[in-house]
Amino acid sequence: MHCVQKISESIYWVGGNDRRLERFENMFPIPKGVSYNSYLILDEKTVLMDTVDVAISRLFIENITHVLDGRDLDYLVINHMEPDHCASIEELVRIYPNLKIVGNKKTFQFLGQFYNFDYSNNTYEVKDCDTLSVGSHKLKFFTAPMVHWPEVMFTYEETEGILFSADAFGTFGALAGNIFSDETDFDHYYLEEARRYYANIVGKYGAQVQSILKKVSSNPINMICSLHGPVWRKNIEYILDKYNKWSKYEPEKKGVVIVYASMYGNMENTANVIANKLAQKGVQDIRVYDVSKTHPSYIVSDIWKYSHVIFASVTYNMGLYYGMESLLHELKALNMQNRTVSLAGNGTWSPAAVKVMREILGCMKNVEIVGTPFEITSTMKKNQEPTLDKFVEDIYETLI
Ligand code: FEO
Repeated sequence: MHCVQKISESIYWVGGNDRRLERFENMFPIPKGVSYNSYLILDEKTVLMDTVDVAISRLFIENITHVLDGRDLDYLVINHMEPDHCASIEELVRIYPNLKIVGNKKTFQFLGQFYNFDYSNNTYEVKDCDTLSVGSHKLKFFTAPMVHWPEVMFTYEETEGILFSADAFGTFGALAGNIFSDETDFDHYYLEEARRYYANIVGKYGAQVQSILKKVSSNPINMICSLHGPVWRKNIEYILDKYNKWSKYEPEKKGVVIVYASMYGNMENTANVIANKLAQKGVQDIRVYDVSKTHPSYIVSDIWKYSHVIFASVTYNMGLYYGMESLLHELKALNMQNRTVSLAGNGTWSPAAVKVMREILGCMKNVEIVGTPFEITSTMKKNQEPTLDKFVEDIYETLI
């Protein structure tokens, strides 16, 4: 049975949800599922904006067939060629052989890489700022390279002021009937997942996000239609402001994320004592994570949110504990910057954790290490408390 919704008088959401997939990109846990959004414009010409993941392609075709109600499909705009959005292209061309696939040079390069069918009679290549009139609707294409792949485009529909924004402004979390963000308790249900999606999927490309935000900002935007999650039609400034902050690597809040790597609980004890002492000073936003327990995407997301991070790790193989090293390299790969950091380490012999953490963090922009790293050998002793108090005080001074 088809499952569609009108988002305006002549535009339909024809996407779908996937709550079976365990990990997005086979990497990120998605306990709330994910939606793959696609939109169909009915005008003198019919235009489909992107397709969906193979997992829901059967329903997707049913949705399109229902909305078209016997009409031909004239255009398929490909804003993004990642397989979670491009899996149904071959089938659409088979069903609608006159279909023109709208994309840029890079889109068609990737189409050839992912597919083996002959689409040579179906291409409609566009360049940055080209337009396409399809009746009362007029589409303008903005290339948005690396948000989050090189072929990505935003398509702006000028008559209704709708921005089809590819992955940008998307979120993990399936849609639960309510398709507009203002129909949901967005802050409570989606915001954490939107941030986790942004930080881990798009986070590396802050400069490119800033560039496309500037590029489209001169156009009135009445609606944002992303490829994942709810559609924005109200309070659009809210999500634009979040994207502006996230892409500038600006923390949203003062607060401390404590991430620890502990084998037998001694570094964990240190992390808990630090959190306790910060709390007793009145610090309210403290998050504590065991790097071996929590999927790194959640830790990365909270580091994106908060101003301060304490990395506390044991030494392993004369270097850094694997999970901590992996997290730090991921943060470096994501271009994390503008954070205040403190370090704690443990080593029963030849302690090396602090040294390695310092080296990795030294490659990140505007990451300031405050205070003297707090080091223990095996366990924290009572006589180290004054040193720890100074460590906590140094962090606190930069928080207030
Ligand atoms: Fe939702 Fe970059 O794919």
